[in-house]
Amino acid sequence: MLLVRMNTVKAIYPGTFDPPTNGHLDLIERGAKIVDHLVVAILRNSSKAEPLFTTAERAAMLTECVKPFGNVSVATFDGLLVDFARQVGARALLRGIRAISDYEYEFQMAMMNRKLAPELETIFMMPAEKYTYVSSRLIKGVYRLGGDVAELIPPLVLERLANKRGAVAPEGTGVDLVEGSPGDD
Ligand code: PNS
Repeated sequence: MLLVRMNTVKAIYPGTFDPPTNGHLDLIERGAKIVDHLVVAILRNSSKAEPLFTTAERAAMLTECVKPFGNVSVATFDGLLVDFARQVGARALLRGIRAISDYEYEFQMAMMNRKLAPELETIFMMPAEKYTYVSSRLIKGVYRLGGDVAELIPPLVLERLANKRGAVAPEGTGVDLVEGSPGDD
């Protein structure tokens, strides 16, 4: 007898992705294995500091990066994440937890999202150990100061970072690498 599975699970992997890192891609790969469809959703108007990459640039980079996966798409959203989730018919949110320092922020966000949309589950996954210290913020900071980040971001992101040279502060201007909240990835 042929069994037809009608109950497909769509999940959203939301974030700022400024820029996408290998840690993000690792999470995408893990998420894509356990859901039927994964939507990588870029927040358009973040309250964070001015992003280095425009939303369109981040969407283009992610679209290129997720090409190897047959069940991953890229979208942008504004407003409440739960509204976007309902709009696209997602049943779960995927978030990465790298270290205990991520936990408090992620827990608060998951609980607030549950309050707003009880039908939506948050799934936490851990990236590969080698990426547990990687964040977009650190990548930008280290790159700005001339550090080698080639093993931590996709090659195309490295290329786009190089194209942004004019936009990043030159070495020695006292750019603070560690400001921001734990969730500022
Ligand atoms: O990569 P980030 O910056 O940690 O992602 C944070 C993001 C985009 C998931 C979060 O800021 C978000 O969902 N923003 C949308 C607004 C919203 O729904 N806020 C209430 C959630 S508590």
